[in-house]
Amino acid sequence: MPKVLIATEKPFAAEAAAKIKAELETAKYDYSFLESYQDVKDLHKAVADVDALIIRSDKVNEDVLNAAKNLKIVVRAGAGYDNVDLKAATAHDVVVMNTPGQNSNAVAELTIGLMIYMARGKFNGKSGTELAGKKLVLFGYGHIARLVAKMAQGIGMEVYAYDPYLTNEIMTKNKVKPLSKVKDIFSTGDFVSLHIPANSETKKSINWELLSLLPDNAILVNTARKEVIDEDALLKAFAGKKGFRYVSDVAPDNLAEINKQYADRIFCTPKKMGAQTAEANINAGIAAARQIIAYLEKGDKTFKVN
Ligand code: 3PG
Repeated sequence: MPKVLIATEKPFAAEAAAKIKAELETAKYDYSFLESYQDVKDLHKAVADVDALIIRSDKVNEDVLNAAKNLKIVVRAGAGYDNVDLKAATAHDVVVMNTPGQNSNAVAELTIGLMIYMARGKFNGKSGTELAGKKLVLFGYGHIARLVAKMAQGIGMEVYAYDPYLTNEIMTKNKVKPLSKVKDIFSTGDFVSLHIPANSETKKSINWELLSLLPDNAILVNTARKEVIDEDALLKAFAGKKGFRYVSDVAPDNLAEINKQYADRIFCTPKKMGAQTAEANINAGIAAARQIIAYLEKGDKTFKVN
């Protein structure tokens, strides 16, 4: 009977956990949950005899892999897998998968929510501005960005996108205007929303060269990863552009410094909230369980990322 560990420092909603259990019970798999753990040693202990692992933003590195002698597959219930050491996993003969698209709607809704919250001055009682009629530029045009585009168009925004890995067809079909240069992203929009993964190419890539191009009143939205921002450049943007605002799902490391002078122009969720909905947890959790079963039973490697 294969053993699955669901290790989530940030637990799934109870409904999602129940559905994951049901999937695994139907397949006659053994399972255990390690939730809200504080010490990584608890994870090391819990993975000791498992064949499969379901995680969220939990880190899977060489130490975890060394502790998991029977491990065959890790599924990141979500989109970004920057928390998994892919090289080490491959070296340990462990397959890594994600569940693309399963939590996208939740992140897209948060993106729109953050835009409205900041455009309305964080609900401070003064007149803010509306989204309708404004330009929104999406950096990256994957699952989340496409949903954000649709929602923003429903509100009446003019939507642009840049994605170096896609041709223009899908954007044009969705009435999104394609941009051809990275620089255009930052000089075009009233709102710029980041939908890029964190990897060696993108870390700190949102630098001063790009941020300096933003219009003075721009709102930068980051529901991707804090690592893609060059935080010194972010501070510089606050200092140099009197109307610049930043909304982010997870704070930059220099939040305290930014808050000293520009607290009214920044808002960050205290914990990563993008995928924190019951629906997203259910979709991603069920997909993760099913992918594990399909891999262990039939060798199905769809969604393998290493
Ligand atoms: C993702 O990459 O899927 C999101 O950032 C959600 O991450 P979480 O599962 O840690 O909330």
